[in-house]
Amino acid sequence: MVKYKSKQEIEMMKRTCKLASEVLVYIAPFVKVGANCLEIDSLCHDFIVKNGATPSPLNYKGYPKSICTSVNEVVCHGIPKDYQLREGDIVNLDITTFLDGFHGDTSKTFLIGKVSRAARDLVQTCYESLWKGIEAVRPGGHIGDIGEAIQKFVEAKGYSIVREYCGHGIGRGFHEDPPVPHYGKKGTGAPIKPGMVFTIEPMVNLGSPDIEILDDDWTVITRDKKLSAQFEHTVAISEDKIEIMTVTADSTEPREILF
Ligand code: MF3
Ligand code: CO
Ligand code: CO
Repeated sequence: MVKYKSKQEIEMMKRTCKLASEVLVYIAPFVKVGANCLEIDSLCHDFIVKNGATPSPLNYKGYPKSICTSVNEVVCHGIPKDYQLREGDIVNLDITTFLDGFHGDTSKTFLIGKVSRAARDLVQTCYESLWKGIEAVRPGGHIGDIGEAIQKFVEAKGYSIVREYCGHGIGRGFHEDPPVPHYGKKGTGAPIKPGMVFTIEPMVNLGSPDIEILDDDWTVITRDKKLSAQFEHTVAISEDKIEIMTVTADSTEPREILF
């Protein structure tokens, strides 16, 4: 059941979404060769708490840390561990904050030092695919429009889309309806209506789309151990526009797109 948000609730969600985006700006200078994923987690944790919020992942269904750090072949839900980032790694930091009773969810994939051309192109394509998905949102459209736009773009470049994990409605709940697949067919899925707030968060693989879950029951990796990238924004739909709620203050990305 989709929980439609009032204009006032969407206004209230702006603070948590802004904070989540600010965590990515804050942490960016630390995300470099030699940085330890445990340290990145703890810096993000402290930043979130100092801003009066709580990190949504911590203790969520038993999740042990405050953010997700997904390195190289890790698709998503990587648990921060004692690992020093190396030249050539790619790492997704997924930040979800809970503030004023609402969650805000955003992630981005960072390049560590000089990375291979293949890794850079994958990350760039994943980033662009998120925006293809955002641009596919139209009043009177359907959630499937987003997936089709992303899938077509990604597969045309020879990459694959992970199917087991989707974007999601978000609000007072971390994961609400509807699921937002990053593949599919235009005109299918929930109708897009004002008051919807959801994430779009494509996971794009260099090789096959198949995944495995490690014994920690969280870490999702590619079966072929090839690279995977992800970007995520939280968006809110109103009558006349889509607002991209987790665009960072330093960004050149549009904060809203008028219909
Ligand atoms: N932030 C992730 C998402 O985009 C979910 C992480 S759940 C966790 O939906 F428990 F692994 F943190
Ligand atoms: Co999400
Ligand atoms: Co997320």
